[in-house]
Amino acid sequence: MNLFDVYPLYDVTPVSAKGIVVIDDKDQEYLDFYGGHAVISIGHSHPHYVKRLKDQLDKMGFYSNAVQNPLQVELATKLGQLSDCEDYNLFLCNSGAEANENALKMASFHTGKTRIIAFKNGFHGRTSAAVAATDNEKINAPLNKQQKVTILPLNDIDGFTNEIIKGDVCGVILEAIQGVGGLDEPTNEFYQKIALLCKENNAVLIADEVQSGFGRSGKFFGFQHHDIQPDIISIAKGMGNGFPVGGILIHESIKASYGLLGTTFGGNHLACVATLSVLEVLEEENLIENASQLGIYFNEKAAEIPDVKRVKGKGLMLGLEFDFEVAELRKKLIYDQHMFTGGAKDKHVLRILPALNITKDHLDIFFKALKAEL
Ligand SMILES: Cc1ncc(COP(=O)(O)O)c(C=O)c1O
Repeated sequence: MNLFDVYPLYDVTPVSAKGIVVIDDKDQEYLDFYGGHAVISIGHSHPHYVKRLKDQLDKMGFYSNAVQNPLQVELATKLGQLSDCEDYNLFLCNSGAEANENALKMASFHTGKTRIIAFKNGFHGRTSAAVAATDNEKINAPLNKQQKVTILPLNDIDGFTNEIIKGDVCGVILEAIQGVGGLDEPTNEFYQKIALLCKENNAVLIADEVQSGFGRSGKFFGFQHHDIQPDIISIAKGMGNGFPVGGILIHESIKASYGLLGTTFGGNHLACVATLSVLEVLEEENLIENASQLGIYFNEKAAEIPDVKRVKGKGLMLGLEFDFEVAELRKKLIYDQHMFTGGAKDKHVLRILPALNITKDHLDIFFKALKAEL
């Protein structure tokens, strides 16, 4: 059997990794400034993470959601404290798309309505409603296109107002910093206005924090830069540092009932321990503050490079905008400089999403390599 050929692959075969360094099958070291699509939050094979997972595996890897699992309760408590979201309840699942799928479903259950508002260049995953809310025609099958979704330009308050006041919208979903799209952000004014309009029009505000959450933006959640309170917050990526886990934080004003949501694997013992150990390391090593400080340093260093048109993003969720397409530059960075970086839907943006415990020295190495290739 062959693999279903959907991924264009770089010719690199990583076999081990530690911190920000990835080593391939020829013993070549690479610096990882991409974290496998923003997944590696506390560094590859962090010793605390590895120990916690090994210890748990020795005890028990999995049992289903039919029995008590105190690890889920411990995780919800710790997550509530660290994220300052104690008035939410946690539902655990396995990926970002599944998190958003459940968030959109909850919006519809809660309001009894069916239309979703999402934004241009947004990305929310590849499941049914999540992909329909994603602004990419090519990844929407005819089946997905049956969903009622209106995609609006970001930061157009009048356009948004005209749609939400029609009264049929169950949920509004947006990223605090667009990841796949290319690091565009809602303004403070826009995010605050849509939060207000959602309340006034009985629509559920869903903050897709799958990529921007867990400290990456320099605050625990990206929406926390905007002084608003979403009804549902979706999480995944950095949450498990590579262990597949996702979830939604649902405001306690939205009530649960038995059977409303469910999953076989979601919230299993290993996933809970992976996430708990990420939270422990974020706290112990003060990594959210590190992300914030290094984001500032990154901006200073980027300002020294005339080819950089603009730095986009916050914390360690960053993009460098050029006036040329970055595909060739990424190839040079990977094959000549041995560094992983990311691309975006906006082909002029080079995405930088390293582990939150990188240092200024790492960024100095990155900028030296970048200058050499420009
Ligand atoms: C903001 C955002 N939401 C959702 C997803 C989907 O997550 P997953 O690939 O885990 O399904 C992604 C993935 O890139 C994302 O960036």
